[in-house]
Amino acid sequence: MKILAIETSCDETALALLNLDKEAENFQVLDHILYSQINEHSQYGGVVPALAARLHNKKLPVMLQEFINRNGRDIDSIAVTVGPGLEPSLYVGVNLANLLSEALGVPLIPVNHMHGHMFSGLLDENLVGTASIEYPFIAYTISGGHTELVLVKAYNDYEIIGITQDDAAGEAFDKVAKMLNLSYPGGPKVSKLAESGDSEAIQFPRPMINSGDGRMSFSGLKTAVLYYIKDNPPQTEQDIANICASFEQVVIDVLVAKLNWAVNTYNIRQVIIGGGVTANLKLRHAFENYATQNGVNLIVPNKILSTDNAIMIGVVACLDMIYNIQDRPREVDGSLEV
Ligand code: KG4
Ligand code: ZN
Repeated sequence: MKILAIETSCDETALALLNLDKEAENFQVLDHILYSQINEHSQYGGVVPALAARLHNKKLPVMLQEFINRNGRDIDSIAVTVGPGLEPSLYVGVNLANLLSEALGVPLIPVNHMHGHMFSGLLDENLVGTASIEYPFIAYTISGGHTELVLVKAYNDYEIIGITQDDAAGEAFDKVAKMLNLSYPGGPKVSKLAESGDSEAIQFPRPMINSGDGRMSFSGLKTAVLYYIKDNPPQTEQDIANICASFEQVVIDVLVAKLNWAVNTYNIRQVIIGGGVTANLKLRHAFENYATQNGVNLIVPNKILSTDNAIMIGVVACLDMIYNIQDRPREVDGSLEV
């Protein structure tokens, strides 16, 4: 059974084709294609929603044509992200998905983007996956729009146990990058500069690290960096690198501390991470060290699956079919929750 997945929730236009063997409960990626709008948005220091929608509108039909040329029209279902995300962007994918579903006479499978991040770790490095994972596990999704710890009790039975009270971790990276005149998205640039910096050079506050619950906060940290830069304008490359390294270390410390809280509070030894910030190598190493020292089975998705993509949307569609779930909301909803 072939599933075409479409993702347009933010600034990545993406398609993926997956083959599902429902009986065997496994699936594999046959093809995928992604266009990142980063270059078009970088001059504005962030994603401009109307521009994002315009670019999705321009790119998606061309990409679909290319995809059909490569793979043919033999498609059994269409999966599409319905939220959360930027509504103008979401509509581009959902409108095309509805048209395709009508024209080909195949079902439409609406997918929550966050579920995609939560389950992207089910695919191995060859982009082959299976539904067999032990429940419960903790899904830790750390992106530009979300930072949340989700207790996955069973497929389709989720509870948010920790969440940022303000900015997402990726948003903090992007805003600190902006303060240092680095282009959008800031995460990769800040982490690159941080490599040559001293993470102990500046003591920034570690917000809510000891709150004793799953609440997180990154907005105060961002403000602390802003004031530091005002009071100590960086003079050298090394000054910039030290700010990046010290900031990055705080984010990592907070994220690891909250994972520790969740693992101990819920006594769960399996964790899947996802979302753009988990592409950060230093964060990955910190999570890996934590996992080794605490007997936690950490599932780290392939790097192309950490940031936004259509493959993870296809994975959720496969899981929904395996578990016979058909009552997902079909309407576009920018604020859809896990
Ligand atoms: O998951 P994603 O592609 O899109 C959202 O759903 O938000 O995540 C994008 C976020 C951006 O904030 C970006 O700066 C951040 O992930 N990011 C990183 C790194 N790569 C991407 N943050 C820190 N270090 C990185 N290497
Ligand atoms: Zn995302």
